[in-house]
Amino acid sequence: MIVTTKKLFEAAYGKYALGAYNINNLEQAMGLFRGNLDSQAPFIIQISKGARSYTDKRMLEAIIRAAEDVFPEAIFAVHLDHGDEETCYDAIESGFYSSVMIDASHHPFDKNVEITRRVVEAAHARGIVVEAELGQLGGVEEHVSVSEADAKLTDPDQAREFVERTGCDSLAVAIGTSHGAFKFSGTQALRFDVLKEIQARLPGFPLVMHGSSSVPQEEVERINAAGGNLKGAKGVDADQFLPAAKLGVTKINIDTDGRLVWTRVHREFFRDHPEKFDLRDPGKIFMKAYAEFIAHKNEKLGSAGRLPEVRELLAAEKA
Ligand code: G3H
Ligand code: 13P
Ligand code: ZN
Repeated sequence: MIVTTKKLFEAAYGKYALGAYNINNLEQAMGLFRGNLDSQAPFIIQISKGARSYTDKRMLEAIIRAAEDVFPEAIFAVHLDHGDEETCYDAIESGFYSSVMIDASHHPFDKNVEITRRVVEAAHARGIVVEAELGQLGGVEEHVSVSEADAKLTDPDQAREFVERTGCDSLAVAIGTSHGAFKFSGTQALRFDVLKEIQARLPGFPLVMHGSSSVPQEEVERINAAGGNLKGAKGVDADQFLPAAKLGVTKINIDTDGRLVWTRVHREFFRDHPEKFDLRDPGKIFMKAYAEFIAHKNEKLGSAGRLPEVRELLAAEKA
C-alpha cells in the first residue's frame, strides 16, 4: 500500500527512522520489497531524476505498481529524490508519487524559500507532501577550515525560519554527511551538536539525513579483491542511526550501499564463473543479497518489526 511519508513520519518520530532506498531497476525493486517484508519494516522508495531517465520514468513506475500487487502486505511511500522545480511538478502531476523533494539548497536562502514555497503550494493542492533542503552536503573535506565547513552545515535558526516560511513537511539537514562512497576524508563525524540545536528549534518536525550509506568495509574489500578499485571508501557508522532518530531524524537516505552490493555480487560472479553469460544467474544472487542487506539496515534504523503497528495505526485512522 502506498502512503505519504507524512503518515510514516507520524508513526516513527523520536523512536526510529525510515529507510529511504533509491532504486533504478527490477532486481533492486524485488530485493527491496523482499527485504522490507522479511524484516517487517515500513519503508520509502526513492526515485532520482537519473533513475527516471535511465530507461523511461513509466518503466520504473510500472515496476513499483507491479510490486505493490506482488507484495500486498508492504506499506511504503514513493518519493522523488533531489527534484528540481520542473521535475517536482512533473512528479506531482503524474499522480504516482506520495512525496517529492525540492532541492533548491544550492540557491541563496531567500531564493530557496521562494522556490520551495511554490512547490509546496502545488504539492499540497494534490495531497502530496514535500521534503526541502537547507544547508549543503558534501565538500566538507579535511583541507576546509572549521568555519568554512560549518558554513555548509544547516544553520539551526535559519532552519526554523525556512520551515515557517515555506510550509514544507520535512527538512533535509546538512550535519556532516556527504553523498557517495568517500565520506569523512578527515576526522569528521556526524554533528550531533548541530542536530540537537535544529531539533530544539523545530520540536516534533521530521528531519532527513541524506548521504547516509555506511559503505561496509567488507563490501569494499570484496569489490577490491574482485578487481575493483575503491580504496579509501568510507561511510556513516550505522550505530549512529538510532541516536539521530531520537533527535528527530525520521528518514535516512541510502543509495550507495545498494550499488556496492550490486557491484560486489557481479564482480565476484563473473570472476568466479568466466564461462557464464546468463544475466539471471548473478541477478538471483543479487536479489537475495540485497534483501538481506535491506533487512540488516532496517535493524540498525529501528524500523524492523514496525509494520504491524503502522498497519494498525492506518486502520484506526480509517475507522
Ligand atoms: O543523492 C543522490 C542519489 O544517490 C541518487 O543518485 O542521481 O545518481 O540516481 P543518482
Ligand atoms: P548515499 O550516497 O550515502 O547512499 O546517499 C544517498 C542519498 O542521500 C540519496 O538522496
Ligand atoms: Zn541525497
